[in-house]
Order: sequence, then structure tokens, then C-alpha cells
Amino acid sequence: MNSSATKKKKPQTSLKNKSILLGVSGGVAAYKAIELCRRLRDEEASVSVVMTDASKNFVTPLSLEVASMHKVFSSLYEEPMAHITLPQQAELMVIAPATANIIGKFANGIADDLLSTCFLSFSGKTVIAPSMNWRMYENRIFRQNLEKLTSLGVIQVGPGQGSLACGEEGPGRMAEIPDIIDAVRTAFSKRDLEHEKIVVTAGPTREYLDPVRFISNRSSGKMGFAIAKAARNRGADVTLISGPTSLAAPAGMRFIQVETALEMAEAVEKEVRSGASALIMAAAVADFSPSEKSGTKIEKAGELLIRLRQTPDIISSVAAGKGKPFIIGFAAETGARVERAREKMKKKKMDMVVFNDVTEAGAGFDLDTNRVTIIDKKGETGLELMSKDSVAEAILDRFSEIKA
Ligand SMILES: Cc1cc2nc3c(=O)[nH]c(=O)nc-3n(C[C@H](O)[C@H](O)[C@H](O)COP(=O)(O)O)c2cc1C
Repeated sequence: MNSSATKKKKPQTSLKNKSILLGVSGGVAAYKAIELCRRLRDEEASVSVVMTDASKNFVTPLSLEVASMHKVFSSLYEEPMAHITLPQQAELMVIAPATANIIGKFANGIADDLLSTCFLSFSGKTVIAPSMNWRMYENRIFRQNLEKLTSLGVIQVGPGQGSLACGEEGPGRMAEIPDIIDAVRTAFSKRDLEHEKIVVTAGPTREYLDPVRFISNRSSGKMGFAIAKAARNRGADVTLISGPTSLAAPAGMRFIQVETALEMAEAVEKEVRSGASALIMAAAVADFSPSEKSGTKIEKAGELLIRLRQTPDIISSVAAGKGKPFIIGFAAETGARVERAREKMKKKKMDMVVFNDVTEAGAGFDLDTNRVTIIDKKGETGLELMSKDSVAEAILDRFSEIKA
């Protein structure tokens, strides 16, 4: 991360004496759990390990016993109360690697081994580091399971893009150990938004031509949903206003579904006026809407001329109203035009703008990654290509720093 604004790094949250239950499931990255365990112990955390049976094909219990300096658990029946006592003693569960199978079990309340039963009886935060072949990672059933877990507050770290154990390239590589440790730290540390009431918008809007046809855009809603979940995890009171997406409604926040730019504008206005401290406009609200909407399906014709008119500018009207919240906007541009984004910020009286060039590889619509520049009144911070979850955290970090 580089920044033209001078920034002090916050002191890192200590993991000293924190009690962590490390779950290891049966993926090729299981051997990396040894290193993770060691690094957690370097931080003076106390680590108990629960292994699935499948994971023992990839790493030995003895190695994890040595790394953790504790007995490793695996069987549900060997110590009859372990599925209750281990989670009771833990402050955080970390599953690394998390297989598609264990994620599926967690998401569906299946408790047929020690690790899945521990998860079900654990009431604290859980960090999962998914790791698998990209085909499995992109499977729709798996993605629904993953989304269900994150919408319930499970913290996902990674996976990264890169060369996989099978020799292929793609998403599915377990997050690097320092990133997992960072996620663990974040899970312990940040309740910095506890007094904030944040309205987040996400997804596209639909502007109808007739009852069946509409003009829309490629926004998937992933960025806005990631911000809403991260803000919720950091203690904020969150309202998520979303256009149509395929994402599950996240738990622990108000979720308002809208379709058109006008509905989005009305919902934002209502929520903001009821006392929001911040508005984060990650939605890709249509700039134009058909001037006329036909009440019946438009008949096929050789040529159809559509007249469009500008939709209400949500940010400008919120900025002009009473009790203006802290406004964070997004500028998705084609071509690197940070200056244009900065002008937009000034013109619309935004406090921060998140700029991304949607033509760049890995940045923009319907992806799990993004490369953004965070622009505020003091400077700009160019971030590397990272997951949308990490981008969400970085945006909230900057917001939190400015508000402090
Ligand atoms: C060589 C090999 C490598 C595997 N790697 C992974 C992996 O990286 N991620 C994954 O989700 N499953 C992987 N699997 C499949 C899991 O081992 C399998 O789904 C198992 O049931 C997972 O059990 P568990 O979730 O209880 O540990 C692999 C299987 C084999 C044979």
C-alpha cells in the first residue's frame, strides 16, 4: 500500500494468550497448517488442533502436536465431551485449509465428525481459509455454501489466484499465512465501527422499457455486499440497499431490495435521513432511464428509438440535504483517470471516492478481486490487486482513520 497522505500505522492487535481452535481439513494445503500453527504460537497464542480424518492423509497428527504443543483431536468419540469443551475453551476458530466438503458441512449444519460438531457448538467468530482446485471453487453449490457462511458472519480469507497443486492456474490457492494471521488479528481486534450507522448500496439497477425489458449493467453486487459484511463484523449498524443480484441476503443487518434507480434513491434518502453517519455508494446506479415506459410489451419493429433521461443523482441530493453523512462514492472508469475521480469527489461533495479502472485485469465487475485507489481529501492510497473482502476492509480502515 502506498499513500501520498502521511499515515500512521495502528498498533497491531496482540494475539498473546488468545485461545484459538485450529481446524485442519483434508486438502493439499493441509501441510501449511503446521506453519500457521507455529506462527500463531510465535504470537504467543494458545492453539488447539482438530483434524478431520481426511486431513491425516496430507499431514500427520504428530507434526501438528509438535507445532501446537498440545494433544491433537480428531475423533468425535475418543473424548466424549471434546466437541463441547474444545469450542468452549476457544475464543476463535480458524479453519485452514477449509475444504469444499467442510464448508458444505458447516453451511448445512452437518455434524458428523469432531470438527463439524465443534463448529456447530461454537458461538464465537470463525475464520475460514478455503483451498481447492478452481473448478471446485467455482462450483455453484459450493459458492452458495460459502456465501451462506459469510452472510452468517463467518470470516473468509482468500483464496488467492495462482498456481494450484494440480498444476493448473486459477482461484483456489489457500491464502498466505501472513494474510490468515491478519484475518485472525482483525477478528480479535476491530470493533471500531460500533457507533456508526452505515448505509451501503450494492448491485445494479434495472430501468424498464416495458414490463419485460430493462436496461441494466454488469454489477454483481459483490463489492457492496463485502463492505456491508465487513462493517457489520466491525460492529456497525448496517443497512444494505441492493439492486437485483444473485447473492444471499446477509444476516445481521437490514436488507432492502430495490430494482430501479428511483427506488434506490428513495430508499437511500429514507435510510440516510433516519440518522446515518455514513453512506457508501457501491451500487452501479443507472445514469439514464427510458423517458417513457410502455405499459405493454413493445411490439417487434424494424427500428426502435429509445429516449433516455438522467436518473436522480443520489449522492448530490444526499450531500445537499440536512445532516449530511460521510459519503463514500465509487468511480468505475475505463482508463486510468484518478484526476477525474478526484474532480467527481469535489463536485459531488463526497468525502472519499474509491476509483477503479474496470478495464484492468482482475478489477471490476463480477470478479472476486479488485484493484482500487482510495481518494480522500488528504491524499490517495493505491492498493494492490486484492480480494473484494480486503478492499472492503481497506475502505473501512481509511474511513475509521479519518473519523478518529
Ligand atoms: C490428492 C487429493 C487432494 C485433495 N485436495 C483437496 C483440496 O485442496 N481442497 C478440497 O476441498 N478437497 C480436496 N480433496 C478432496 C477432499 O480430500 C475430500 O473432499 C474429503 O472428503 C475432505 O474431507 P474433510 O473436509 O473432512 O477434510 C483432495 C483429495 C485428494 C485425493
